[in-house]
Amino acid sequence: MASVIDSSPKSRKLADTKKLREPEFLNTPITPDRYYSKEWADREWDKIWTKTWQIAGVAAQLQKTGDWLRADFGTESIVCIRGADDEVRAFYNVCQHRGMPLVTGDEGHSDNKRLTCPYHGWAYELAGKLKTVPDEADFIQGSPCGKMNLKPVQCTVWAGFVWINMDENAVSLREYLGPIAEQIETYPMERMVRTHWVTIEGDFNWKLVQDNFNESYHVPFVHPQTKFVMEYSHNYCQFDLYPEGHARMFMPGAGPTKMLRGGESETLEMMAEELEFWDLDPDQFRGGKTGEIRAALQKAKREQGAEKGYDFSSYSDDQLTDHWHYTIFPNLSFSLKPDGNIWLRARPHESDPEKCYFDMWYMTLFPEGQDRYYSYSMSEWVDTSVVAPHEQGKYGEVTTGPGIDQDVEVWEHQQRGLHSRGYERDYLAWQERRVRYFHENLEKWMAD
Ligand code: FES
Ligand SMILES: [Fe+2]
Repeated sequence: MASVIDSSPKSRKLADTKKLREPEFLNTPITPDRYYSKEWADREWDKIWTKTWQIAGVAAQLQKTGDWLRADFGTESIVCIRGADDEVRAFYNVCQHRGMPLVTGDEGHSDNKRLTCPYHGWAYELAGKLKTVPDEADFIQGSPCGKMNLKPVQCTVWAGFVWINMDENAVSLREYLGPIAEQIETYPMERMVRTHWVTIEGDFNWKLVQDNFNESYHVPFVHPQTKFVMEYSHNYCQFDLYPEGHARMFMPGAGPTKMLRGGESETLEMMAEELEFWDLDPDQFRGGKTGEIRAALQKAKREQGAEKGYDFSSYSDDQLTDHWHYTIFPNLSFSLKPDGNIWLRARPHESDPEKCYFDMWYMTLFPEGQDRYYSYSMSEWVDTSVVAPHEQGKYGEVTTGPGIDQDVEVWEHQQRGLHSRGYERDYLAWQERRVRYFHENLEKWMAD
């Protein structure tokens, strides 16, 4: 497969960690109607979903000519397919004859270099041109071939993902992402393998998901277990809000450094697997020394990375241990770790603003020469030869992992609370300003 970015370590620069100036805020009330109004959702469709860059799937799904993947957003369905010329293209997943979707299912392969409609057999070239139709001479208005072609959608392969944009006039993905594109490129994304793929059919508006991942104020209450392994206080985090509408947060990980929040034994127990992987003895941090774990891990990863099959040369020390968390407007959020990333996003439901599809993908970077190893990010063994099945269902039927499931449970309840006559609007803490910024960007896009 043609790689779009040069992933050699020398080509990658260290990520820029400069703190940005804070933007001006308008402080428009975030009223609850935007989480359930159909009128608001319809405007979002016109102004947001059909205008912004979205991930359609993972580039590894399209390795050979004829491989395709399907991505649904709201009422729309898009098919991305690798052509005979090796280009990846995207089209609306609809036949130009009488509107039948061309593909169903998440992914597949067209082995005759045609995308053929299952209804009456119109056959399109992989570049979208209608090539053959049954009974071609019977079209008294003239043959549809070469005329009734598939409708293209903007498409780019970048950072191991296939991205689409339904707006033919949209700026390029790179321009859309701004400076965070280069930061993401410090990670060898195209070498990561999707080892988890889960979709929750959520009974909540998609914005509750993005709001939640735009703040860590909830973390000690919703995820009490994390107090043993990270500095969740906003005082230790850096927040940057980009003019393009995206945001990032650096949060120190690998054991509480500034003060011991959790019990020492719990911290060491939760980190034992990771410490031992890096040849560190958890017991050496007993006696009030958990604050030394972060630096010790950074040093160990530096020294032993190569021999364990990792190339960490493009990471700064804090990328080796900390949580580099990003939100991309409107609906993507992800945490980058040296050996893998979790990507989270919600897609709009086709008709109901009080529902959405919440996707979780875990992308794992396997050490060179190994096809199975213990992922301390996911706390389980992962195997590169096993392609992640797409698990889909309601909350409780499928799991996004113990931590993220705690967030999902909140949204299921919060959606109901937003309908209460006793709730009027938000009242945000300063550390939640990424939530504010997300809504102000939303308002800006919807007004345009
Ligand atoms: S709808 Fe596709 S061939 Fe008829
Ligand atoms: Fe959370």
